Amino acid sequence: MKLYTNQDINTLGKTIPPCSGIFAIIDNKVEDYFSAMKNWKIFPLHASESSKNLATAARICSWLMENKADRDCFIIGAGGGVTTDITGFVASTYKRGVRFGLVPTTLLASADAALGGKNGINHLGIKNMIGTITQPEWVFQSPAFFKTLSRRIFREGIAEVLKTFFIFSPDLYGFAVSFFSGYDHRNPSKKEERILERIIKECARLKMEIVRKDEKDRGERMVLNLGHTFGHALENWASENRKNILHGEAVAAGIVLSAKVCAALDLCPKNLAGELAEDFKAVGLPSSFGVRVSQIFKAIEQDKKASSDTVTLILPIEPGNVVRYIIPAGELKKLCSRLII
Ligand SMILES: NC(=O)c1ccc[n+]([C@@H]2O[C@H](COP(=O)([O-])OP(=O)(O)OC[C@H]3O[C@@H](n4cnc5c(N)ncnc54)[C@H](O)[C@@H]3O)[C@@H](O)[C@H]2O)c1
Repeated sequence: MKLYTNQDINTLGKTIPPCSGIFAIIDNKVEDYFSAMKNWKIFPLHASESSKNLATAARICSWLMENKADRDCFIIGAGGGVTTDITGFVASTYKRGVRFGLVPTTLLASADAALGGKNGINHLGIKNMIGTITQPEWVFQSPAFFKTLSRRIFREGIAEVLKTFFIFSPDLYGFAVSFFSGYDHRNPSKKEERILERIIKECARLKMEIVRKDEKDRGERMVLNLGHTFGHALENWASENRKNILHGEAVAAGIVLSAKVCAALDLCPKNLAGELAEDFKAVGLPSSFGVRVSQIFKAIEQDKKASSDTVTLILPIEPGNVVRYIIPAGELKKLCSRLII
């Protein structure tokens, strides 16, 4: 996978290899950025968590067939994590797989979702239940897209950045907390723009280093799931109960709950959860939605990392140090009985 960082959007055309046709799945909120791409066939996607499913994938496949996309075509996905996930899923299954490239347009997708080759879609109310692990040919990153993001959607991306830095680097974690505490993404100085570019680049480097060691997510890569078992369960609960919780917000709350569980197991200091909650608050992220863990426990058991009677958690010990911890589901349920997320 080739990573183009801090690129001028006008250079995008040069990244596309010789192919029989270019088919782009573009989040309809960012279509204007691509108006110069006259030779692209475009599928405008109304991207939302509830459209990241088989029905949407089938509609895109039908569109590719109607437009005679063959095995030598090139597919592009441009948008947030919903668009990059669904594009990767379609491209890796259409005609048993065609080449594709991703253009992330949210901070969350640039720093995380577009990287690593996981292409998940939701099924029967469960996040990323169906999917593939297939790498794109390239990912084209440009913070120029962020200027049209709302503050809330920009900030949810900070959760995935802090997650990656917490796992791998205490220095970068501390630096990013203080940088984002005073950052206004709609009005950045030139210096701040350069710092943000470096943060995204570092985040991508750290993620791809571990993806290269364990692409299929069977061992080392699992640390990247910090906050995700609880976060995904909260998202499933939110979609069932028509609550508006964004992925990054759920991950932030999931990381704080992981620290509470970790402390209850005597594996980390008692104040870690509180410190994490303070850090998230400083960058404008929530750390709890006041939901009892017992309300989301069924979804925790349905997580991909759970087996029939155990749940695999990634627990935070301190910045730069997380552990994989396998716990019997019954024990976790008891431990969490009084906790909230
Ligand atoms: N594959 C992976 O490894 C991975 C990792 C993390 C998250 N994800 C997935 O990513 C998804 C979340 O990603 P997201 O937060 O980017 O969500 P998203 O794709 O839903 O985008 C959020 C919102 O921003 C809008 N948008 C996108 N770019 C914009 C821009 N430049 N200007 C204005 N509006 C814009 C979208 O239309 C949408 O309304 C979840 O489905 C999550 O499961 C996948």
